[in-house]
Amino acid sequence: MYPKTRMRRLRRDILRPIFTETRLSPEAFCLPLFFDEAAKEEVPISSMPGQVRYPLSAAEPLAKTLYAEGVRSVILFGIPREKDACATQAFAEDGVIQRAVSAMKAAEPRLVVITDLCACEYTSHGHCGIIREGELDNDESLLLMQKIAVSQAKAGADMVAPSCMLDGMVSAIREALDYEGFSNIPIMSYSTKFASSLYGPFREAADSGFSFGDRQSYQMNPANAREAFRESELDAEEGADILMVKPATFYLDVLADIHSLGLPVAAYHVSGEYAMIKAAAANGWIDEKKVVMEAMTSIKRAGADLIITYYTRDILRWLNE
Ligand code: PBG
Ligand code: ZN
Repeated sequence: MYPKTRMRRLRRDILRPIFTETRLSPEAFCLPLFFDEAAKEEVPISSMPGQVRYPLSAAEPLAKTLYAEGVRSVILFGIPREKDACATQAFAEDGVIQRAVSAMKAAEPRLVVITDLCACEYTSHGHCGIIREGELDNDESLLLMQKIAVSQAKAGADMVAPSCMLDGMVSAIREALDYEGFSNIPIMSYSTKFASSLYGPFREAADSGFSFGDRQSYQMNPANAREAFRESELDAEEGADILMVKPATFYLDVLADIHSLGLPVAAYHVSGEYAMIKAAAANGWIDEKKVVMEAMTSIKRAGADLIITYYTRDILRWLNE
């Protein structure tokens, strides 16, 4: 008469922790950082409360502090003093990101320093490569990505993360890195990056808004799951070491799908996802810590090995409580 199977039996307080399927480990979180070449001190990012643009002088102390807090990897974005049509500062030897990388690695060699590899923060028009007749020129932009990749590796980056969504970007970058003697530097490809409305706060943070058009000719249509799988499959064939899905929480189905390719998978919990939680928490409508941990658990459950999130420092603190 009564249920033979009682799911509630294992939900008792003392049993629940034992049968927890998904756990968050501190090593799995990666913190994005913004370095602003023109900044003299930390500049708060208003759309991302708690996040700042750092001056270059902060690179060394920050590397030490973060590592001491338990942060094991960071991904760097640069805001150059000068922008131009061909993103010269993205591959300059003394460019903002090159200097930030070498300072951080010198201060704390154990910290994994990843560089975002794109042109949009460095171009005057704000697009992710070279523009010809109003369009992003794929193959010419690939040459630019090769130059940026090599300059970042020379500066000491442990890994490069191309986010431009150009066709053939992984094979082009792999070839350039190998040719220059960086065959051991992994490529974490933003393999499935959607043309999402959740990047708004980032564009303020990185000063990478575009002066015309949008990114729909190169970023993916949020409606397309099969195309999303193909995008990542292609990058895997081109030699990507790690695949990525971005944004994270709206795209967990895609993440789970791509996990089946067998490569390590990263998920980027983006600026808009961060800002939404911050805003609701600031209004007292949700419990920030609980919502963040639930979001992270869902991303991990869907198959992410690495989670890139602006909440990394808080999460490490909360995991220790
Ligand atoms: C640049 C880049 C973007 C993000 C990461 N790299 C913005 C964009 O594509 O417009 C977004 C990150 C975030 O929103 O947190 N290619
Ligand atoms: Zn870009």
